[in-house]
Amino acid sequence: MNRINNKIALITGGARGIGAEIARLFAQQGAKVIVSDILDIEGKKLAQAINGQYLHLNVAEEKEWQSCVNKLRSDYGQIDILINNAGITGFNENIGPQDPENCSLDAWRSVHQINLDGVFLGCKYAIDLMKEHGGSIVNISSRSGMVGIPGAAAYASSKAAVRNHSKTVALYCAEQGYKIRCNSIHPGAILTPMWDPMLGNDETARAQSIAMIASAIPLGVMGEPLDVAYAALYLASDESKYVTGTELTIDGGILAGSSAGPKKISNS
Ligand SMILES: NC(=O)c1ccc[n+]([C@@H]2O[C@H](COP(=O)([O-])OP(=O)(O)OC[C@H]3O[C@@H](n4cnc5c(N)ncnc54)[C@H](O)[C@@H]3O)[C@@H](O)[C@H]2O)c1
Repeated sequence: MNRINNKIALITGGARGIGAEIARLFAQQGAKVIVSDILDIEGKKLAQAINGQYLHLNVAEEKEWQSCVNKLRSDYGQIDILINNAGITGFNENIGPQDPENCSLDAWRSVHQINLDGVFLGCKYAIDLMKEHGGSIVNISSRSGMVGIPGAAAYASSKAAVRNHSKTVALYCAEQGYKIRCNSIHPGAILTPMWDPMLGNDETARAQSIAMIASAIPLGVMGEPLDVAYAALYLASDESKYVTGTELTIDGGILAGSSAGPKKISNS
């Protein structure tokens, strides 16, 4: 308990899924949590339940970041933790195919605007809010930022850029003498509403799809949002005070090897 006692934490995309679980865990661990999202009803409800605060914030809009930062500065003077969690795959938004051959430029840009521009803006404004006293920025990238994903080109590209930008921010802050750390988390196959367009609504078909996905994961199950929230808690807390510019993969072992690796096929 109280691993981040009295720290002020801003979480983007915090109304549901992984962001909501991070918000709940951080509140349990003593932080004052500011949930932000574009899903205002869900976000307000969660903020109320955890005795936090809700702010509307579309991460792709710089003006919204500026008013959010102004509000945080006047309410708290500073923040200690930023979790850049908001993200989209492009599958929920009806923006068309996401493969490299058929993805439209508009679709490509709209995914990058949220996943990459949103993280860039978050880091930029968090540095401003944290540089006097230090803090921790955690960027939620993806395992898709570490490998190619043929059916989700913009998503994979945006998450790869988030991985790299996290290291740049980490080194820049160290160079400037700011006590701000920046790290990335790379989840894979965590069961959240993000998967709904891929899994559908039919319960039997959904269960079959989940079982099929799980069968390709070394640990044999899809992850839960709490698996990622614990990683975020470690990187947000002072327990990781010597950790910056690193990446933490939370994927049940998916990236640990390759299914096409050499193995003995028969004894004859
Ligand atoms: N679930 C997984 O398997 C998985 C795997 C790898 C990475 N991730 C990453 O984890 C993060 C959270 O994903 P999730 O699975 O909880 O998804 P989710 O769809 O359940 O939640 C995403 C949240 O982001 C919010 N959001 C979307 N666009 C926004 C915008 N423009 N401004 C502010 N908020 C916005 C949504 O409203 C939602 O509350 C994302 O960055 C995602 O890419 C998830």
